[in-house]
Amino acid sequence: MPHPIYIEHGTGAHFTDIDGNTFLDCNAGWNAAFLGRAHPAITSAVHDAMTTLGAPGGSMHPSPKRDEFARLLCARVPGAEKMVFAPSGSEANTYALRLARSYTGKQTVIRMAGGYHGQHDALLGEQSSKTGTAPAAQNNIVTVPFNDLTAARAALEAHHDTVAALIVEPMMTIPGAIHQRGHYLKDLRTLTTEFDVLLILDEVITGCRFAQGGASEYYGFDPADLVVMGKMLGGGLPTAAVVGRGAILEQPISASNTHAQNPVTLAAAVAALELSTADEYRRVASMGERLRSGLRACTESLPIPVQITGDGPCAGIHFTSDDVHDYASADAANDDLWRLMCVGITNRGLGLTSRTFGPTIAWTDTDVDHALDVFSSTIVDISHAASATEVSTR
Ligand SMILES: Cc1ncc(COP(=O)(O)O)c(C=O)c1O
Repeated sequence: MPHPIYIEHGTGAHFTDIDGNTFLDCNAGWNAAFLGRAHPAITSAVHDAMTTLGAPGGSMHPSPKRDEFARLLCARVPGAEKMVFAPSGSEANTYALRLARSYTGKQTVIRMAGGYHGQHDALLGEQSSKTGTAPAAQNNIVTVPFNDLTAARAALEAHHDTVAALIVEPMMTIPGAIHQRGHYLKDLRTLTTEFDVLLILDEVITGCRFAQGGASEYYGFDPADLVVMGKMLGGGLPTAAVVGRGAILEQPISASNTHAQNPVTLAAAVAALELSTADEYRRVASMGERLRSGLRACTESLPIPVQITGDGPCAGIHFTSDDVHDYASADAANDDLWRLMCVGITNRGLGLTSRTFGPTIAWTDTDVDHALDVFSSTIVDISHAASATEVSTR
């Protein structure tokens, strides 16, 4: 905002626009590039695959890269016995719903208010336009607030005869890095098991960002029945997958897709997995922690209330005095101040395209310092401007 930035070139954690302005990428290429831009290992994997195989879709005649990738991913993600490929997170979630409904023979799906799972008509949420979708698509969807175990239990009790699955992002990203409170995810795992309902973890964002095994490894809870991954999974190229229990993945759903299993994409995905080591995850998470604590320290004494949320490498900023733990509390924050901050940080060289942001493997400690400087000075400026002009600070 207020206008799109056209990128002319970029490497690592930085990119330059067509006017010559350079930015620190705070959103990892919309959460698709954990290694940063133009990483040499990705570039060379793509080049090799392109020159030896070309880039047709891979579904009908898979390359050995497919099995290499599947073995690598299933070895990392707890509970992953088999997988289904997709070219995007939206399609992977579509397949996850089909698998769950086919396996259980039930139709209802419980989702979180403010959760985003892509473009499946049934899962479009509060922030997405529903124009052009069939209203009936959402008939079997029940919505509960994130971080509210009592509401999840009540929904399961009310619909236990018909619920196939509960789908949740381990950290809500569209409303701004809303992290679990207490052991919410572990408790959801226990609750869904108690009601014999499948737990689908939508790890399209957290899967390749929190730990090698995704959120269940990071937070330490029993594996979900299905895990959906995408975005960073392809090392910047489009790929996604559903992994999980073999018996569920073996359901004979329709999942044919021209661009799933593309050998060039999967070559990049294998390179990305190999470079995403446990040490790198620890380093990136500690940069995220430093970013959040630095933001907290700078905003504590300001005349406007600010909440800093997030976990692992991810952070969110909310201009409100209330605790932000679900969509409603995030939505009640001051949006004008958020937008003002976005303009300010953009003018000062931070590339931010969504409310969840933070470091990637391509960042260094100097980038964290730079991000903190820019966020801090901008928030200080807008807080003074807001108090001077008596902008509502809610
Ligand atoms: C949690 C989550 N699930 C699914 C999707 C959809 O993925 P895609 O844009 O690849 O279709 C997104 C995209 O932002 C997402 O954040």
